[in-house]
Amino acid sequence: MNFITFSLPLPPKLKIINKMRTNIVAGNWKMNTTVKEGVKLVSEIVEKSKKISTVKLIVAPPFTHIFSISEKIKGTEIALSSQNCASEAKGAYTGEVSAEMLADMDVKYAIIGHSERREYYKESSEILLKKVKLALANGISPIFCVGENLNEREENRHFDIVKKQIEEVVFNVDENDFEKIIIAYEPVWAIGTGKTATAEQAQEIHAYIREVLSGEFGKKAEITSILYGGSCKPSNAKEIFSKPDVDGGLIGGASLNADDFIAIAKSF
Ligand code: 13P
Repeated sequence: MNFITFSLPLPPKLKIINKMRTNIVAGNWKMNTTVKEGVKLVSEIVEKSKKISTVKLIVAPPFTHIFSISEKIKGTEIALSSQNCASEAKGAYTGEVSAEMLADMDVKYAIIGHSERREYYKESSEILLKKVKLALANGISPIFCVGENLNEREENRHFDIVKKQIEEVVFNVDENDFEKIIIAYEPVWAIGTGKTATAEQAQEIHAYIREVLSGEFGKKAEITSILYGGSCKPSNAKEIFSKPDVDGGLIGGASLNADDFIAIAKSF
């Protein structure tokens, strides 16, 4: 009989689990750059990212840039994401862009449920679930965003808020599709404010998110990449990414500068 395995310290085990997950740094350009500026930005990212092999890089430009940018990243390791997709498959929905159209343009990821969409465009969990399902049906991995606002954090309700956001959407996808989902935890009070969650705050809630996911999907939650977003920059990325349940970042402002974006990616 051999009891040695029971006395192994915890850190090596965590390390092994961590290796099962993909580290990701994704740039959410939001409504910034012209096509010309976007192509220049992505060309710089392609050039400067050549030696990066430990992290998956994703860029999420505006819809109008997708064709030009997909041409620029062909043959590279960089992947393309949209910032949104329609909640309907096709038809008379003026102004919308469907998941099928995006898949046709080589889009592999879609940011869904960003707090700016939830707040300014009143996207409910019901709408977000439709978007997530359509993305998955078209072979696109959702980067599903969750996060509390300042009031909710101050009232210590952040755990309940993210749990509800996850339950209402992620728990309703097919178990076999779950592994294609990436979660981005973005506290609203940290987005574009210069205020960042501390590495400890990020770890605490990322671990909680994983616990919530494992309650429904069991061991599969160990391979879910959970990204942090909110004023992430070269100066704070290393500390945040060093935490065991932080598997990368969803970067806003700093992703518009190739040097900063690459410096963040090199923080792993
Ligand atoms: P900032 O990095 O500009 O705070 O934005 C974060 C974000 O919203 C990414 O989706």
